[in-house]
Amino acid sequence: MMPERHNLKDSLTHPVFKQIGKVSDQLGVETYVVGGFVRDVLLGRKREVFDVDIVTVGSGIDLATKVAASLRPGLKVSVFKNFGTAMFRFNDIDFEFVGARRESYRQESRKPIVEDGTLEDDQNRRDFTINALAVCLNESRFGELLDPFNGIGDLENKIIKTPLAPEITFSDDPLRMLRAIRFATQLDFMIEEKTLEAIQSQCKRVEIVSKERITDEINKIMLTPNPSIGFKLLEKTGLLAIILPEVQKLKGRETKNGIGHKDNFYHTLEVLDRISVNTDNLWLRWSALLHDIAKPVTKRFDPRVGWTFHAHNFVGEKMLPSIFDRLKLPLNEKLKYVQKMVSLHMRPIVLSEEEVTDSAVRRLLFDAGDDIDDLMTLCEADITSKNPEKVSRFLSNFQLVREKLKDIEQRDALRNFQPPVTGEIIMETFSLLPCREIGILKSAIKEAILEGEIHNNYEEAYNFMLAKGEEMGLKAKDV
Ligand code: CTP
Repeated sequence: MMPERHNLKDSLTHPVFKQIGKVSDQLGVETYVVGGFVRDVLLGRKREVFDVDIVTVGSGIDLATKVAASLRPGLKVSVFKNFGTAMFRFNDIDFEFVGARRESYRQESRKPIVEDGTLEDDQNRRDFTINALAVCLNESRFGELLDPFNGIGDLENKIIKTPLAPEITFSDDPLRMLRAIRFATQLDFMIEEKTLEAIQSQCKRVEIVSKERITDEINKIMLTPNPSIGFKLLEKTGLLAIILPEVQKLKGRETKNGIGHKDNFYHTLEVLDRISVNTDNLWLRWSALLHDIAKPVTKRFDPRVGWTFHAHNFVGEKMLPSIFDRLKLPLNEKLKYVQKMVSLHMRPIVLSEEEVTDSAVRRLLFDAGDDIDDLMTLCEADITSKNPEKVSRFLSNFQLVREKLKDIEQRDALRNFQPPVTGEIIMETFSLLPCREIGILKSAIKEAILEGEIHNNYEEAYNFMLAKGEEMGLKAKDV
């Protein structure tokens, strides 16, 4: 899988690499490509959007400016003076330049003194051995790989490990604890023991990291093929209890009078992995993670029936705004969508347990609207019973629900229900000013459609309205 060991020149086909080498030679500085690009080339991993990190033993800003000018006059360079970095975009790739730096920590302050350094100083400061590989771009050494921490070996053995003592690397930037877990999940790597222990002992330091950066990592974990790997590690290291205490609380089983309930944490992770096979929709995956979030707070033991989690779907729906707010997740229609999924997640299951009536299916379609297919995907993932008979009964009933949904949708077009008779028509017909009778009539029409007494069309709804209005003592204008 891995290309030629110590020379990567065949992988550096993008013309910009040669140009960076050439300009570096003119400036008399050594320049390297480092980080994720090198790691992913060695792993043969394809990336859709990517950025390339360039380190020069000199001024990153100077080099970026000169390379950009030599590629295309007027190519825009963004300079971040405070950080000593600069970047430009060329052929849809972001090239980010930085000067090699060295950081030394003073005893009395957490703030490092940043000084110019060698390539090795720069590699020392990076997060993991697999991200500290550097490939030279200068012409005479083009493609030469520098790997002081045996990152190649760790790539081969699938290991996440810090270049320096993990305590130092993590205290430099505590977000790296989450990055370790994210990379382990994305790449299906193991976190080396000492590195893992350091995350456990320093997990509290994650509190100083901004919520946006944390959530960015959680979302990346969420979008991997098996997000459960990451969540188990987050739990094991103590990070989950800090970042998502509500999910942490799902863990554990209680037994009373010999009756136990399932461990909702592991059940949730199973649902999350199962749904990830069928969808890349981040918000549907969040819905899977949070679908049972209110089980711990609604849990009761009733000696007659055992454990109950009464209304956990509705309580869960109410818990979401504060979780989203805290994590800086969007408080817009994405939140509403996840709330809808959480509140409705039991409906198709309940429905499939009983006789599947047309009116129940109509109501479900009405409540779920366009998100009905996503809801069915969530419910199917939620069936994690170990009892094969139970699973196959659920799945075949589900099939029935799906067929009925299709059938009713074709007949009644309920997905995005718009009342076939508007309030204006009601007012006009009965010569009414705004009053509560209008609302009563509107909901009576809706109910009649959902119950299947009339079809979802203007004519039937209009006639129903006339009859119902008369019943209520209203008088229709003569037409
Ligand atoms: N890096 C680091 N510590 C961080 C973030 C980044 O040491 N907290 C270094 C690593 O060497 C990393 C490089 O900067 O490889 C680039 O970072 P970034 O673009 O965030 O990650 P990639 O490794 O490129 O991976 P991905 O794009 O998948 O996030």
